Amino acid sequence: MSALDDAAAAALHHLRAGALDLAALPPLALYVHLPWCLHKCPYCDFNSHAMTGELPERRYLDAIVADLESMLPLVWGRPVVSVFLGGGTPSLFSPEGIERLLGDVRARLPLEALAEITLEANPGTFERERFRAYRAAGVTRLSLGVQSFDDALLARIGRVHDAAQARAAATEARDAFETFNLDLMYALPGQTPAMLEADLDTALAFAPPHLSVYHLTIEPNTMFARERPALPDEDSASEMLDAIVARSAAAGLERYEVSAFAQAQHRCRHNLNYWRFGDYIGLGAGAHAKLSFPHRVLRQVRWREPARYMSEALAGTPVSHEHEVAPEDLPFEFMMNALRLREGVPLTLFRQRTGLAPATIEPLLARAQASGLLERRGGVVRASARGFDFLSDLQAMFLPASRQPQRT
Ligand SMILES: C[S@@+](CC[C@H](N)C(=O)[O-])C[C@H]1O[C@@H](n2cnc3c(N)ncnc32)[C@H](O)[C@@H]1O
Ligand code: SF4
Repeated sequence: MSALDDAAAAALHHLRAGALDLAALPPLALYVHLPWCLHKCPYCDFNSHAMTGELPERRYLDAIVADLESMLPLVWGRPVVSVFLGGGTPSLFSPEGIERLLGDVRARLPLEALAEITLEANPGTFERERFRAYRAAGVTRLSLGVQSFDDALLARIGRVHDAAQARAAATEARDAFETFNLDLMYALPGQTPAMLEADLDTALAFAPPHLSVYHLTIEPNTMFARERPALPDEDSASEMLDAIVARSAAAGLERYEVSAFAQAQHRCRHNLNYWRFGDYIGLGAGAHAKLSFPHRVLRQVRWREPARYMSEALAGTPVSHEHEVAPEDLPFEFMMNALRLREGVPLTLFRQRTGLAPATIEPLLARAQASGLLERRGGVVRASARGFDFLSDLQAMFLPASRQPQRT
């Protein structure tokens, strides 16, 4: 059998009867992972790899097309609502490469006419006018990883760019795109609330339609986990968060998700689809996919290491493992995402996305509501103000009984 016959057989297999009952399939998005960076930042646990030698742009893009072709039978006929080219540092890819990638995608998947197409970019990885060339290649939204506009902080977190390059990149993003995002991190080593406020003011002066602000997390298996830098204490970090919320609101950016702030009409549609438990194809090294069928939800992971991914994808075997989500895990998976949204979600979405009866989640909702961490109003569930501050405690209340944290 050919690789396509295998994929068609797999698609049929996923259509057989099963435990769930989805009346309609969720919106479908596409994520493409471009895994290389100029160097590995000491806090980063993403699947990103320092470049050694030339970027294998052409071979990688060939592998992405082969990957897409081998998985097409799993999504036949479904329109794609958004595309996210993430990394890694996608702006290391040439505008011609990105144009080819988007052309290859459009030739195989029905992209909606107004699909949001985001590209992640890093300051200091491109020559002048490159952002305009990405715009001309079909990218509609740029997401720029600035992290800070402070030279000392940028050096302390091991970034390759300095503040002047960050400002130049933000200026180009603003000039080339109708909508763009700036990523900042806070609670950085040696950062004071006053330094954070200065970073915020600089970021907001670019009038970004979207701002993402992440608390620096020390992830296992990173250089910062091995050599932990001195970090601001909790009080200082929470003072910083208060300043972020207040100043972004004053600049017309609403906090619509834990870490995301946006002007009206500029929320990230691709991320909203994740938080509303939509489906997504994941192409590229280490990319994850979630695909629904009438009676099951499937998760796939691609080969993580770029060289292995390329040879496997070109041979028609891009997926390193896949599994069906167990029905008892779906309430947690759904709520883990939905509760990140400030406005929450209508409970009807739970039935639509998981194919489970609302009764399966009712006792968990009642318990979370009684604890004061969850609110319900007019069929909509969302974290209370306190639940939003203690989100991981609230999310953990939806874990299946076997995975609930043990009380001692
Ligand atoms: C997928 S990363 C890639 C973006 C891009 N390569 C860059 O670094 O600018 C997206 C964002 O996640 C955030 N991030 C990465 N590692 C983090 C960490 N350990 N703690 C908090 N935020 C982190 C950064 O703000 C980063 O811009
Ligand atoms: S540039 Fe971004 S993706 Fe690459 S190592 Fe640094 S934080 Fe990670």
